[in-house]
Amino acid sequence: MHIQRAESLLPFNSLALQASADALVTVNSALELRDACSWAREHEFAVVPLGQGSNVVLAADLTALVIRQCSRGIEQIAETPASVTLRVAAGEDWHSLVQWSLQQHLYGLENLALIPGTVGAAPIQNIGAYGVELKSFVTKVHAVSIASGETISLSNAECAFAYRDSVFKRALQDQLIISAVELTLSRVPEVHIEYPALQAAFSNSSSQQVTPQAVFDAVVAIRSSKLPDPAVMPNAGSFFKNPCVTQAQAVELAARFPELPVYPQPDGQAKLAAAWMIEYCGWKGYRGDGLGIHPEHALVMVNYGNGNGVQLLELASRVRDSVADTFAVVLQIEPRVYG
Ligand code: EPU
Repeated sequence: MHIQRAESLLPFNSLALQASADALVTVNSALELRDACSWAREHEFAVVPLGQGSNVVLAADLTALVIRQCSRGIEQIAETPASVTLRVAAGEDWHSLVQWSLQQHLYGLENLALIPGTVGAAPIQNIGAYGVELKSFVTKVHAVSIASGETISLSNAECAFAYRDSVFKRALQDQLIISAVELTLSRVPEVHIEYPALQAAFSNSSSQQVTPQAVFDAVVAIRSSKLPDPAVMPNAGSFFKNPCVTQAQAVELAARFPELPVYPQPDGQAKLAAAWMIEYCGWKGYRGDGLGIHPEHALVMVNYGNGNGVQLLELASRVRDSVADTFAVVLQIEPRVYG
């Protein structure tokens, strides 16, 4: 195990924020992950797991052992005539898994194409896009306890998945490191094209005519047209969650702002488009101190090259304050903030 000391994390976070780690190690297997956790216990280091760093804000140096998860491997562990269950190592690249699954004629993940990050990070925020969420495919999550080094498996229900949320962001935050995810995919294509942008893309076809590959291609085209590639323009995807409000509050807001997109939820609440509210407050395309709000998508904060994490959080607070003043709705930051 090669522990590096006082390492820069700039290459390892998609916002390209400058921060260092007291100690950094790359692990390639669950065994190495357990060894890294025991090194941290022996040396009394806190542990911070990192996948591709595509959903973190580093606003301070980390006095911790940062564990970069690079374990690879996709294993078929069960099958039925209708489905296949895969066990995928945490360090696998999410988008590569989506592409691979389609090549194997295993369906379901196509709406989740092009989401940056690793498979191990995906359950933490229950990644979702274009009408589909990861929670529909997860059968188990395998993890290592930071405190004991024990291996633990959680069922789908135990993960407590919700919109951009799970037990890994709540009761089990900072206690476990995910080592592998089990996903059950279908052998039978069943496309989901209800999301407005996909409905528009397939307006001339019925859902029976649309293939999973066509959905994959459409999602890649839509995402590429509005969401900046972090490798070209450093960002962490949607910076805020879409807020949920009561039906009464949604009715009141819709009366005052008839253009505001409101999505009724199964639990009776209503989800609002944070991007629309941020754009309404005039932030879209804002640029200052080397940071900004993307000109094509108001939910994406961008580091143009020399911003730091503290300044980024200050800008986020200003955005949040103006949305709160205008709409009386408080936005929540989606990525994990350190510092
Ligand atoms: N909109 C604006 N201004 C903008 C951008 C969007 O008014 O600058 C409006 C659009 O016109 C649309 C609505 O806001 O009516 C929603 O926009 P969009 O379809 O782009 O989706 P979103 O709600 O902004 C969410 C996810 C994305 C995911 C897309 C597609 C969250 C926080 N974000 O964005 O996820 O790709 O839906 O499903 O839920 C991410 O989490 O990092 C992410 C990119």
